[in-house]
Amino acid sequence: MKKIIALILVFFVFFSCENGQLAQTPPMGWMNWNMFGGNINGQLIREMADAMVAKGMKEAGYEYIIIDDLWQGQRDENGVLHPDPEKFPKGMKDLADYVHSKGLKLGIYSDAAEYTCAGAVGSIRYEEMDARTFAEWGMDYLKYDYCGAPEHRDSAFVRYKKMADALKQTGRPMVFAICEWGPRKPWEWAADAGGQLWRTTWDIRDTWDHGKYDGGHNGIINCLDRNVDLWKYSGPGKWNDMDMLVVGLYGTGESSSHDGANGCTDMEYQSQMSLWSMLNSPLITSCDLRNISQKSLAILTNKEVIAINQDKLGKQAQRIFKENDHEIWARELEKGAWAVGFLNRNDNETLKMSLEFSKLGLESKMTVRDLWKHENVGENLDSYSCEVRPHEVVLIKLSN
Ligand code: GLA
Repeated sequence: MKKIIALILVFFVFFSCENGQLAQTPPMGWMNWNMFGGNINGQLIREMADAMVAKGMKEAGYEYIIIDDLWQGQRDENGVLHPDPEKFPKGMKDLADYVHSKGLKLGIYSDAAEYTCAGAVGSIRYEEMDARTFAEWGMDYLKYDYCGAPEHRDSAFVRYKKMADALKQTGRPMVFAICEWGPRKPWEWAADAGGQLWRTTWDIRDTWDHGKYDGGHNGIINCLDRNVDLWKYSGPGKWNDMDMLVVGLYGTGESSSHDGANGCTDMEYQSQMSLWSMLNSPLITSCDLRNISQKSLAILTNKEVIAINQDKLGKQAQRIFKENDHEIWARELEKGAWAVGFLNRNDNETLKMSLEFSKLGLESKMTVRDLWKHENVGENLDSYSCEVRPHEVVLIKLSN
């Protein structure tokens, strides 16, 4: 009898820990929406998993392959949801087995209403059944959208919690990514509803500055501005999600090229990687990994920058200085280290910027390493000055 009770206890502790410990660092992976929209199929997803391994991205820490909207077929007479048989002829379990065999994880998408944003079948009233189906297929992550659902945030809380509870009940650890885009301030309630991350903005577009911010417009810098004050909500297992990295799309993405978003320069892509890493955003890539450019691959696999994003303390960077186009962002890291990003928002001029480390509360002299140059640029310093080119982020790590 004692043995049985002990076993039950071990089982219970195991599963509560597993669920409680999801996404202790921001999830890293690839998602199809920006590039391919609904033009997806099982073969494409397999090839993306292959590319993630072959290009060294898995080795750099990328883990999740996430299938976005328009994978769905219909519900059968028992209400069970099936994938589109033409796009996924071998089914989802087979695909998940393949992705797992590569040492990666698989994610899927649904919506807290009758229909998803692109008009496929949603999960409302079928939460438990769909969560079980996703678990049986071997899914590791669910992005849960909010199109067609009620305006008020109490309704959003109820709908998201319902799905979070259903996922937990399956016993399979699945990251729960809340996607209501920010209007109901999910940073205030999404963790309590059971989410490990929540989108803070409308869909990101493949441009540096989209001129304005709304449902159709949101460039890298517009997205950044919406996240300045959200640092206090972020930490292990609860992340502000600034949407996908547009690195490597070069204006070719299906949904990311909306309304004049014609791509970025490599410098701008590099800056997105710096900023998303500084602000603890999930690093979810979205370009076609099978033929990614060398430059984009180098940006996405910079392990020193990734280490900032994945720092165990999980402290989101704060903007500690702003004057016109000149911004300084900083975050504390493990072992008394700090990361500092010098951002130049000016379109044409190189700016000189500097920081005295006492502004960070540091009293000792620090070693300074430039994380894009991959070299130490100073020892025993108590301040640092640098030239920052237009739309560049000079990213340094301070340690002693
Ligand atoms: C919404 C989401 C996007 C994507 C699409 C799919 O717009 O914000 O990220 O999932 O729906 O239809």
